[in-house]
Amino acid sequence: MSSPSPALSRRLKAETAFQHDRMEQLMARADPFGSRDAYARFTASQYLFQQDVEHFFADPGLRAAVPDLHVRGRLQAARDDLADLGHAPPDDAVATAGVTMPEALGWLYVSEGSTLGAAFLLKEAREKLGLSEDFGARNLSAYPGGRAQVWKQFVATLDAQPAQAHDAVVAGAQAAYDRMGVLLARLAPA
Ligand code: HEM
Repeated sequence: MSSPSPALSRRLKAETAFQHDRMEQLMARADPFGSRDAYARFTASQYLFQQDVEHFFADPGLRAAVPDLHVRGRLQAARDDLADLGHAPPDDAVATAGVTMPEALGWLYVSEGSTLGAAFLLKEAREKLGLSEDFGARNLSAYPGGRAQVWKQFVATLDAQPAQAHDAVVAGAQAAYDRMGVLLARLAPA
C-alpha cells in the first residue's frame, strides 16, 4: 500500500525554505527602506514579478484550480505606487511566457506567500518613509479579506491539488523564487 502524499502546502514550504532565506538576504542587501528612491526601485521589482504572475491569470487550468483568483494579484497596486512615487512602470519582458498549470500555481504560491512577510515591510515603509496603504505602499497592503484569511483559503486550494501535480507546482515555485532573486539582486549588485 502506498503512503499518502504529504500536503502540498507543507512540501512547498519545506522545499523552498532555502530560497526564502535568500530573499531575506537579498532584501537586506538592497535596503529598500533606506530612501524613497531605493523603495521605488524595489517596487519596480514587485511590479515586474506581479506582471509575471498575472500573465497567466487567464489560464483556464489556473482559474479552475483557484476559484477566488480574482481577489489575488497586486500588479495594479504596484503600478499605482510607482505613480505615487513619480516613477513610470518598468518595461521588461514577461518571464512566464508559456507557463501554465500546474507550474503556474507554484508561481502564485510565491506571490501569495509574499503577502505574509509584506506586513513587516509595510510597517517599515510607514515608519521610515511615511508611506501608507493609500500612498506608495498599496502593494504591501493586506487584501480586503485580511492576510491570514486569504492565505488560509489559498493553502486549502493548494492542498486540494491532485498528487500527480505536486512536483510541477514545487518546480514552478522554485522558478518563481529564482526570478524574484534575479530582480532583487539587480537592486544591489554584489
Ligand atoms: C525582508 C523580506 C521578507 C520577510 C521579512 C519575509 C517574512 C516572511 C514571514 C514572517 C513569513 C511567514 C508568515 C507566517 O508563517 O505567518 C513569510 C512567508 C512567506 N514569504 Fe516571505 N518575507 C520576505 C520576503 C519574501 C519575498 C521577496 C518573497 C517572494 C517573492 C517571499 C515569499 C514568501 C512565501 C511564499 C511565504 C509562505 C511560506 C509558507 O508558509 O509556505 N517572502 N515571509
